[in-house]
Amino acid sequence: MRPKVLVTRKIFDGALNLLGKHFDVESNQRDLPVTPNQLVKRLQGKSGVVTLLANEFSDMVLTQCPDLKIICNIAVGYNNIDIKAATRRGVMVANTPGVLDDTTADFTWCLLLAAARRVVEADRFLRAGKWKGWGLMHFLGHDVHGKTLGILGLGRIGKGVARRAKGFDMRVIYHDPARVDEATERELGAMYVDKRTLLRESDFVSLHVPLNPETTHYISHGEFALMKRTAILINASRGPVVDEKALVKALKEGKIAGAGLDVYEKEPRCERALIGMKNVVLAPHIASSSIETRHKMAMIAVQNCIAGLTGQRPPNLLNPEVLGR
Ligand code: GLV
Repeated sequence: MRPKVLVTRKIFDGALNLLGKHFDVESNQRDLPVTPNQLVKRLQGKSGVVTLLANEFSDMVLTQCPDLKIICNIAVGYNNIDIKAATRRGVMVANTPGVLDDTTADFTWCLLLAAARRVVEADRFLRAGKWKGWGLMHFLGHDVHGKTLGILGLGRIGKGVARRAKGFDMRVIYHDPARVDEATERELGAMYVDKRTLLRESDFVSLHVPLNPETTHYISHGEFALMKRTAILINASRGPVVDEKALVKALKEGKIAGAGLDVYEKEPRCERALIGMKNVVLAPHIASSSIETRHKMAMIAVQNCIAGLTGQRPPNLLNPEVLGR
């Protein structure tokens, strides 16, 4: 009998067909949201699951899915999966690193430029038929070139963001618990500073840290108090890295000038107050969403699943400990 695999949401036909060559696949091509209870129900008898970030694999879910051998996240982040609980149960977990760094770095720049130059607000104005002609004082934004970009988290995506700053003649400073080597700093033109200095000196603060207990609310009231009143915060990492209520307060009180956000504390919701703010650009977690990259992500997740359920080591296994058991 072929192993059974669940695909929790719609994926590309090519990836689905490849999966179907190896397994009996139940997929959700209508792309309907799946509640935790439905997830548990659909996972009965399934050896593998190809899933999006939107589905949570908590200890409670895993306890109720004794047949599961591998979880293949179509994402590089995996904060939706309780890795410790999966490892305890001998369930492999794999992700899709390496293919979305540049796409996410590109999108970080989309947010930065759009927030600085008020592109979304201006687009809405024009569409509403409000444009009556060129005005010297129309949509005055913030220059990007020549400013200071502060990058918190200089991993693969943070580095991509730094590289792109060269074209804008920016001063780039960064903070990361692991300082990169001098050659990399030189190549990126990025200077290491402590977190406080970064917050004080940056015109744009861009977040690229993974979500973990240390980075939850990494940016909160204290951090906003340090930032320039003209600064713009960009978050294309994970929502809970920013204390969203503190962000709303900082924006209302003019502690910072604006924000460009792709992620939120409690997706798919975001703080209501943000919706009404003109100086905030809001995207629905799409930083990796280019046709090319999302195709690659789906294929990698499927390849992880095929490897894991055919006795090979999944190329992007996150908890290799389970193989030694
Ligand atoms: C997207 O947010 C990802 O982690 O891949």
